[in-house]
Amino acid sequence: MNQLRPSSANIVLVGFMCTGKTAVGQKLAVRLHREFVDMDQVIEEREGRDIPTIFRESGEPYFRTLERALVQELAARESLVIATGGGVVLNPANIEDFRRTGVVICLTAPPDVILQRVGHDPHRPLLQAEDRAARIRALLDARRPFYEAIEDRVDTRDRTPEQVAEEVLRIFLSRTGHSRETPPGSF
Ligand code: S3P
Repeated sequence: MNQLRPSSANIVLVGFMCTGKTAVGQKLAVRLHREFVDMDQVIEEREGRDIPTIFRESGEPYFRTLERALVQELAARESLVIATGGGVVLNPANIEDFRRTGVVICLTAPPDVILQRVGHDPHRPLLQAEDRAARIRALLDARRPFYEAIEDRVDTRDRTPEQVAEEVLRIFLSRTGHSRETPPGSF
């Protein structure tokens, strides 16, 4: 951790679906003049298929293989802001790889907020269930140990992406040996 430098360390956002990883990552990237990588988007572009189609045609294990390979590729790069897919934490090797070259921060939200944010978005195959609320609660329960294993967490409830990004940046700077008294500008 200590050898991470603020100029080169990646900022890696993990967290359950609809915790704002993409929105927050985009804000951070603009703010820090960094390249933003949305892992799901890269996978979709390379496969020429969207995530629901990949799950439907090739299955979740295939998607996880693509995800794992992309983690290894991105962890070998620097100065990125990375928004991961919600399941990236399920393979501990993913988090180990990201930690070697970056600061991993988990965004959180309670189940009712996630339900409200996801609405009827058909883009998340794991949430296609008759009772979405129950599905979200079950998945969150099953994954809780994985998200809680990430020591840096930011609660996104009642906060704008800008506010969350500010908090993520504060954590990132403290983890890379810098503290910031006054924000050099607002989001
Ligand atoms: C998944 C989350 C999705 C996407 C895929 C699997 C998960 O990403 O990677 O549908 O296992 O939680 P978002 O977290 O961006 O929705």
